[in-house]
Amino acid sequence: MVKSIFVLLGAIGAQACQRDLTFAHGHRHVKRQNTNATFPPALDANEQILINSFDNTSISEWSYYYTHGNHIAGLNKTMAQWTADKWTEYGFTSRLDEYYVFLNYPVSQSLSLTYANGSVHTASLTEDVLEVDDTSSYPDRIPTFHGYSFTGNASAEYVYVGRGQQVDFDRLEALGVELEGKIALAKYGGPFRGLKVKNAQEHGMIGAVIFVDPGDDGNVTEANGIAAYPDGPARNPSSVQRGSVQFLSIYPGDPTTPGYTSKQDSPRADKSGSVPRIPSIPISWVDAQPLLHALNGFGTNGTAVNRTGWVGKIPGATYSTGVGSGARLSMSNIMDETYNPIWNAVGIINGTNEDEVLIIGNHRDAWIVGGAADPNSGSAVLIELAKAFSALSATGWKPLRTIVLASWDAEEYGLVGSTEWVEEYIPWLKTAAISYLNIDVAVAGPIPDFSATPDLHAVATSIMKKVIYPFHGATNHTLYDVWTSISGGEFGVLGSGSDYTSFLHRGIAAIDMGAGPGPNDPVYHYHSNYDSYHWMSTFGDPGFHTHKAFGQYLTLLAYHLVTDPVLALEPADYVPELRTYLTELESTISSAGSSNTTLDLTALTDSIDTFSAAAQDFNALREQALSADDTELLTFVNHKARDFSRGFTSQGGLPGREFFQNLIFAPGLDTGYAPVTYPGITESITFEGNWTAAQEWVGRTAKAIEVAAAILST
Ligand SMILES: *[C@@H]1O[C@H](CO)[C@@H](O)[C@H](O)[C@H]1NC(C)=O
Ligand SMILES: *[C@@H]1O[C@H](CO)[C@@H](O)[C@H](O)[C@H]1NC(C)=O
Ligand SMILES: *[C@@H]1O[C@H](CO)[C@@H](O)[C@H](O)[C@H]1NC(C)=O
Ligand SMILES: *[C@@H]1O[C@H](CO)[C@@H](O)[C@H](O)[C@H]1NC(C)=O
Ligand SMILES: *[C@@H]1O[C@H](CO)[C@@H](O)[C@H](O)[C@H]1NC(C)=O
Ligand SMILES: *[C@@H]1O[C@H](CO)[C@@H](O)[C@H](O)[C@H]1NC(C)=O
Ligand SMILES: *[C@@H]1O[C@H](CO)[C@@H](O)[C@H](O)[C@H]1NC(C)=O
Ligand SMILES: *[C@@H]1O[C@H](CO)[C@@H](O)[C@H](O)[C@H]1NC(C)=O
Ligand SMILES: *[C@@H]1O[C@H](CO)[C@@H](O)[C@H](O)[C@H]1NC(C)=O
Ligand SMILES: *[C@@H]1O[C@H](CO)[C@@H](O)[C@H](O)[C@H]1NC(C)=O
Ligand SMILES: *[C@@H]1O[C@H](CO)[C@@H](O)[C@H](O)[C@H]1NC(C)=O
Ligand SMILES: *[C@@H]1O[C@H](CO)[C@@H](O)[C@H](O)[C@H]1NC(C)=O
Ligand SMILES: [Zn+2]
Repeated sequence: MVKSIFVLLGAIGAQACQRDLTFAHGHRHVKRQNTNATFPPALDANEQILINSFDNTSISEWSYYYTHGNHIAGLNKTMAQWTADKWTEYGFTSRLDEYYVFLNYPVSQSLSLTYANGSVHTASLTEDVLEVDDTSSYPDRIPTFHGYSFTGNASAEYVYVGRGQQVDFDRLEALGVELEGKIALAKYGGPFRGLKVKNAQEHGMIGAVIFVDPGDDGNVTEANGIAAYPDGPARNPSSVQRGSVQFLSIYPGDPTTPGYTSKQDSPRADKSGSVPRIPSIPISWVDAQPLLHALNGFGTNGTAVNRTGWVGKIPGATYSTGVGSGARLSMSNIMDETYNPIWNAVGIINGTNEDEVLIIGNHRDAWIVGGAADPNSGSAVLIELAKAFSALSATGWKPLRTIVLASWDAEEYGLVGSTEWVEEYIPWLKTAAISYLNIDVAVAGPIPDFSATPDLHAVATSIMKKVIYPFHGATNHTLYDVWTSISGGEFGVLGSGSDYTSFLHRGIAAIDMGAGPGPNDPVYHYHSNYDSYHWMSTFGDPGFHTHKAFGQYLTLLAYHLVTDPVLALEPADYVPELRTYLTELESTISSAGSSNTTLDLTALTDSIDTFSAAAQDFNALREQALSADDTELLTFVNHKARDFSRGFTSQGGLPGREFFQNLIFAPGLDTGYAPVTYPGITESITFEGNWTAAQEWVGRTAKAIEVAAAILST
């Protein structure tokens, strides 16, 4: 899941495998002070052992292993066992946790275009085999298809629908474009792909075809004279973005077991509310070109449509809606539907305090034989992290708190492995989890990016100062220096698109991290055969130095969270964020409201004041525990830091989506990846236009903040 954010130095890439490469970053809030770290960083003896244990060559070996065998969800138990065995070798007690989940695999896909004059063009739907990129020719390489797509055929005229967001469809309706019974041709970018299909379905369309556009590749394009992969860093024109079309913002996890874990004998629910009922197919820009050309001159052209992200850079295309072109598409998408076992590898080192547990997770499954960035840059890092802890354990060190490593399966279909696992272990996690650290795409380029709950901002920032980060050839900066100079020192807000989602929506502190490409960096072939070991070692991260730096960072962050006597969570850091979200809510209200529609936000404002006072009391109590050297009091205080964010959740969840319980941040209903803050209130206004409901959600949200405050202060 991925996105790029064009800010300051340029695009920030993507770490989450279901985020979109082109999504503009909406939420970056409280700036941290831009005072650069000392160089080289000063480290204590344990930190030095962990840092020194990292070796770019062994990381490249783990990467090579993960990227040379089919490991789509549910099909490679050997790789799951290999992961568990490595962790065992490095001192973790490891096992496989198995679930039985609904999955579907591609059987046959086809797409053809019939011009108005009757001649037929057939799309290739395949990525080129490249001699230098070994896994692009594997006989068991995976076809181009959409996970959880609907089995069916469709044959009809088609309409270009831009990025397929609800506002795009609103625009088409305003232009009088008939959608009913037609096929949607949509561009990647913006909302999560499953929501494009959902929106098409809800407008009575009967199929969807989604293409990658070189307009989303920044400056690194063939049009700018740059050679395409494998000869250069521009996009290979045949590359296709596979991916899930589940309705991610409604329910992640096995769509047949909403809210409970998937065992072999679990009852199965109707899945039609969270997966499409029309077929869909992903295509390359080369396959899209004739489809767009056939619409040129028909309907309203892309410039006149005047919608964000509507016009791309496919040569010769006007991105016209296409009304009246007479061109038709015939598509067929045949999938094999099964209930398959999936395997999460889990590795544990018990801490002295068994009721304080840190979970560190990465998914293992990929849409392709490779997956060198998504997700196996993170997988390679987690093996090296285990190795570093084994080096530290050899000195007699033991963690104060329990460490759980997780290698999730079936993330790509819809965060399935992590969601089923959280559903199974929720009583334990609610009691004991101190944080969840997610590393999905650790490396797809050089630009570091972090999103986190506010209580993790302080520790996440201070650890950045301890890591040397290679950046565009320079090796004398810390991760902190690079991150602050690019992001301005602002964390993103967690939406969805990777495995932190289930933890966040059960009130557990979480962070997501990784590095992606800027607009002048090699193009990352997201969910394509060319996200391969060859691409990574040639273009993405030659020498695996960024892998090493991110691994060192994650390891030191984990080390401090499980070792420091004071649990490194800062509840008070929620206060400025909650106030910023309030300001944003006020502007949402004033732009959506009219003279007789206003909201009374007093309850919300008061609850933030109450929370602020509780956080101050908490800080005073923590000071007292420290100055009196009172370990019992410190444990009491640490448990408040662990528990307070559970208060932000509501059992019933958000309107129409019970799974999403966090009332402070959630993926936007029509974005899937990008976050919405105070989602109950905001979306009652922006989606339902129901101000009565919005007022009720002011009350519920304020109540949740009061509950969090009460946990901090009692
Ligand atoms: C599983 O992955 C490993 C490592 O990449 C590979 O060697 C093996 O062939 C894969 N197994 C299957 C059944 O594809
Ligand atoms: C039909 O139209 C297409 C697109 O304009 C064109 O490429 C093709 O040559 C035409 N075929 C015939 C038989 O005229
Ligand atoms: C693309 O390249 C041009 C010319 O080098 C440069 O001015 C521009 O800033 C670049 N775009 C981005 C987004 O960096
Ligand atoms: C798009 O349509 C507008 C309005 O009809 C027209 O002014 C403009 O020239 C068109 N652009 C292209 C590229 O056809
Ligand atoms: C495009 O839409 C924006 C508002 O979204 C509007 O301000 C602008 O005038 C429009 N441009 C044209 C050419 O219609
Ligand atoms: C669907 O399309 C495929 C490929 O064109 C074809 O083989 C199949 O018979 C079609 N199925 C139905 C039910 O029309
Ligand atoms: C870790 O703690 C759990 C829970 O107390 C216990 O069941 C397990 O046996 C312990 N594992 C080891 C290796 O000590
Ligand atoms: C980093 O190294 C470059 C040359 O490699 C040098 O120009 C620069 O001054 C150095 N910066 C710092 C902060 O040491
Ligand atoms: C911090 O480091 C960045 C990158 O090395 C540099 O551009 C910036 O000027 C430095 N800022 C300060 C305050 O030293
Ligand atoms: C590891 O880094 C060293 C030093 O930069 C480099 O020579 C070596 O090729 C790297 N190893 C791999 C596997 O890339
Ligand atoms: C204000 O409310 C009245 C009655 O509730 C309604 O008829 C009217 O359309 C509303 N005005 C606006 C601008 O929404
Ligand atoms: C608006 O929300 C209220 C409260 O949740 C509900 O009772 C009412 O039916 C909703 N109105 C509409 C038009 O959906
Ligand atoms: Zn991923």
